[in-house]
Amino acid sequence: MNKPTLLFFDSGVGGFSVYKEVRTLLPHCHYLYCFDNEFFPYSEKSEETIIERTLQICTTINAQYPIDLIVIACNTASTVVLPALRQAFSIPIVGTVPAIKPAAEISQSKTIGLLATKGTVKRSYVNDLIQQYANDCTVERIGSTKLVEIAEQKIQGSSVDLIALKNELADWQTNPDLDTVILGCTHFPLIKEEIQLCLPQVKFFMDSGTAIAKRVQSLLEKAEIKPKSAVKNFIFCTKHFEAEHKFVKALQLWGFDELQLLELRS
Ligand code: DGL
Repeated sequence: MNKPTLLFFDSGVGGFSVYKEVRTLLPHCHYLYCFDNEFFPYSEKSEETIIERTLQICTTINAQYPIDLIVIACNTASTVVLPALRQAFSIPIVGTVPAIKPAAEISQSKTIGLLATKGTVKRSYVNDLIQQYANDCTVERIGSTKLVEIAEQKIQGSSVDLIALKNELADWQTNPDLDTVILGCTHFPLIKEEIQLCLPQVKFFMDSGTAIAKRVQSLLEKAEIKPKSAVKNFIFCTKHFEAEHKFVKALQLWGFDELQLLELRS
């Protein structure tokens, strides 16, 4: 039987928070994941750079392992790259965008916080979503690169610096009205418990993982799956890195068979 090949893309391991939801719902797909560690973090990179990297990486992987569906498991990239990717590929492309609509619906105090990267919090894509779906809410924003780094280090085996994390969230600790926080970066569900500790007044933490899993499932029902021979679940990086050996072991627990360095033509 022909398994659908799904590619997940992020600057780092944040996309694991989305991949985990999809894999739980669809355990029998063929999974590829690429993290662009050469350009990590994306938080403050230019929109042009992010578009160029994403296109180049998806195209390179697709030439080796024909992909049936791509999940851009990164809010920072999704808010800029989706039109270009959809033009370049005829397969379904699923983006990750901050869960602003469900957050506005669930909030009782109508004061919500968007916690995302520095890039995402200022995108016009996000301003449009707020205007469309959260017009009746006060929307506070924190754009943080530090939190992305903390989450990345946690998954790669380091302990979480709770003091640094608390400092990043200082502005919201004194806001008793804030009852809902949007985890608008795929790295943040991976440090949700730590974030929760710093913001005890917040009742709801919203991310897009479950909604994306359902979207992928429904798109795959209609998708044409390309014939291919079964291959391993590869995880690609774009640059060699020090913690490789320890990390490879952890990657097996996440369901990946082999870590490969992706060669990109300059
Ligand atoms: N995980 C990404 C996101 O969802 C990007 C984090 C980064 O590299 O800054 O926004």
